[in-house]
Amino acid sequence: MTPRTVTVRVPAKVNTQLSVGPARPDGFHDLANVFLAVALHDTVTVTPADDLRITCTGPDAAQVPLDRTNLAARAAELLAARHGIEPRVHIHIDKDIPVAGGMAGGSADAAGALLACDALWGTGASQVQLLDICAELGSDVPFSLVGGAALGTGRGEKLTPLEVGGTFHWVFAVADGGLSTPAVYREFDRLTPDAPEPAAAPALLDALRTGDAKALAATLTNDLQAAALSLRPSLAETLAAGTAAGALAALVSGSGPTTAFLCADAEAAHQVAAALTASGTCRAARATTSPAPGATVLTD
Ligand code: C5P
Repeated sequence: MTPRTVTVRVPAKVNTQLSVGPARPDGFHDLANVFLAVALHDTVTVTPADDLRITCTGPDAAQVPLDRTNLAARAAELLAARHGIEPRVHIHIDKDIPVAGGMAGGSADAAGALLACDALWGTGASQVQLLDICAELGSDVPFSLVGGAALGTGRGEKLTPLEVGGTFHWVFAVADGGLSTPAVYREFDRLTPDAPEPAAAPALLDALRTGDAKALAATLTNDLQAAALSLRPSLAETLAAGTAAGALAALVSGSGPTTAFLCADAEAAHQVAAALTASGTCRAARATTSPAPGATVLTD
């Protein structure tokens, strides 16, 4: 018997290294993208309905599109199309991942909806088939499905799992307003006319494997950071406020405008989060940990 409702929990991500190559003929950029899932989650629940519809709750729910432009709707449509069925489902997103670029919240909802619909409809897609649909939905969506830590190559969708030897403590500062990802990549092209081929840094992979926060702090890099700062100079104040409050390292997460702060332990993370909130340089600050598991079915 197929279930009447399915709930999936899915994490946000941070990029501990984002090495960006030159623009490809298809407009995308080859990456060495070292993803790490963090324990801020959205919860996606699917229930049979007369038609495809989306609802959303949570502090940032008003900013989430409820039409078919929502990547979670596209995920349900793609899975249904591949199996010759109609996507008659109500997708409810309980959103705790801040709605701000750089944490892959939209990608998380897509991966969550895909896994949930697969269980609801009994389509029995293999992991390879699910990852293939994820890659069609967006460059970050495959990682949202698998979680943990992984090196993403190609445009970020080809994943190699990575070992993580401990718990890392992070704070995320949520900026007001967004930054367009294509615009940030265009600014990267303008600032970096001769970008070398992307490559993962062995020292960073070692730091992840050994769980050494200081070593990880010394190796965090984001090739999109200069472009994000060029388009949004005020992010420099947020980075400085987190560093002044004791973060081991500060960087822009993905294409921004979210900024990420690696901290020595949970207590330091709470201090940095409080200082960032008080600084007035961001809309909100959240402390969390990594790694976190990928999309997981909670009930059916
Ligand atoms: O794959 P996704 O839809 O998330 O990509 C959004 C935009 O980000 C793309 O249209 C492209 O402009 C840029 N991008 C890129 N290279 C990548 C990933 C994304 O240029 N590897």
